[in-house]
Amino acid sequence: MNQYKRGGFKMHYLFSNVSKRIVRSEIRELLKDTRKPGMISFGGGLPETTLFPLEDIAVITREVLEKKGYLALQYGPTPGEPEMLEALADHMKAFGDNASMEQICVTSSSQQGLDLLALLFLDEEAPIIMELPSYLGGVQAFRRCGADMQGIPMDDEGMDIEYLQNSLDRLEKAGKKTRFIYTIPDFQNPSGITMSLERRKKLLKIAKEREIPVVEDSPYRELSFTGKILPSLWTLAEGKGVIMLKTFSKILFPGMRIGWIVAEEALIDKFVLLKQSVDLCTPSFNQLILATFMKQGKMKQTMEKAIECYKPKCAAMLKAMEKYMPEKVSWSKPTGGMFFWVKLPETMDAKDVFKEAIQHNVLYVIGRPFHCDNSGGNTMRLNYSFPSIEQIEEGVKRLAEAVKKTM
Ligand SMILES: Cc1ncc(COP(=O)(O)O)c(C=O)c1O
Repeated sequence: MNQYKRGGFKMHYLFSNVSKRIVRSEIRELLKDTRKPGMISFGGGLPETTLFPLEDIAVITREVLEKKGYLALQYGPTPGEPEMLEALADHMKAFGDNASMEQICVTSSSQQGLDLLALLFLDEEAPIIMELPSYLGGVQAFRRCGADMQGIPMDDEGMDIEYLQNSLDRLEKAGKKTRFIYTIPDFQNPSGITMSLERRKKLLKIAKEREIPVVEDSPYRELSFTGKILPSLWTLAEGKGVIMLKTFSKILFPGMRIGWIVAEEALIDKFVLLKQSVDLCTPSFNQLILATFMKQGKMKQTMEKAIECYKPKCAAMLKAMEKYMPEKVSWSKPTGGMFFWVKLPETMDAKDVFKEAIQHNVLYVIGRPFHCDNSGGNTMRLNYSFPSIEQIEEGVKRLAEAVKKTM
């Protein structure tokens, strides 16, 4: 029980179990006092700001107000504005994924998708499967519900399938039914790893045999530097047993908070009911602006610009890593997305290097919080989408110095 004393009156607040499971983020605590001049940040997962299409959005906003102002400023349908649903289905089609408007529910970005997912499937102790490492916001959303998160190690091709099978067997033997398998198959946050086609097929086969839904979180899918995109789990499974989470945060901008869930109709119906109790609807104004933006063909241009911008940044980070990092440090080689995943020798702790890195005016995110089993103390995530190429080169040099000093 918490006590707050105000003007002699003592209020005893009885907080929910959910709120008690929310712990202060170790990463936020570390990043708290790091806003000093000259600091180079590989910290957040922010898109490059200069890519934001300010002019286009300004023009379209006025257009939407003039033509559909009353609709834009009104409450809207919970699954989303029809023209937005249509634009989203078209967007997906361009990447090989077919979904009908009835299979889509617009969300206030993917984090709400994760929230709705947790609300729909999770109870205390409910077992779920996720990658080691996985998206921090996912770990937090699932932990909040008291889920029993089982981590599956990954190699360059994604989840270790044998390990996955053993974990599922163990859970089954204990009489526990896994609620879902959560994966980020394309250019994963935080590891940058893309799941191979063979693994995708194996994963879906196992999930189908055991009747476990697969959640495909897919914010980075469109950001491929090679032009190559593997078929999504949604498509491989022909829309059955897969729930896909999508967002504009990384391919366009995060400020309008627009994402969407793709799932079979019966599930969308359930998500919609839950969403009604959460926020009634995602802002119609934002949806109409983005739907118009997409209809005018501007989405494609923006994504192409993003790839043009991130590809050389990724190459610059790789080059600098090879040039400056000491032996015994290894890193992933992403072909899309926004992140490098770095492994220090097992004996090292990325938190110790962090203190030294701050002294060298460079920062990153420690890897442990991305692990649902609290492992990964020797890992770190570096973002390359936000800093400039010059900052990437200088920042990696500084980081390598910090690593050497801590060694
Ligand atoms: C894998 C993954 N899922 C979901 C999100 C949430 O993004 P948003 O809520 O901005 O759509 C992120 C953001 O970094 C992410 O990396």
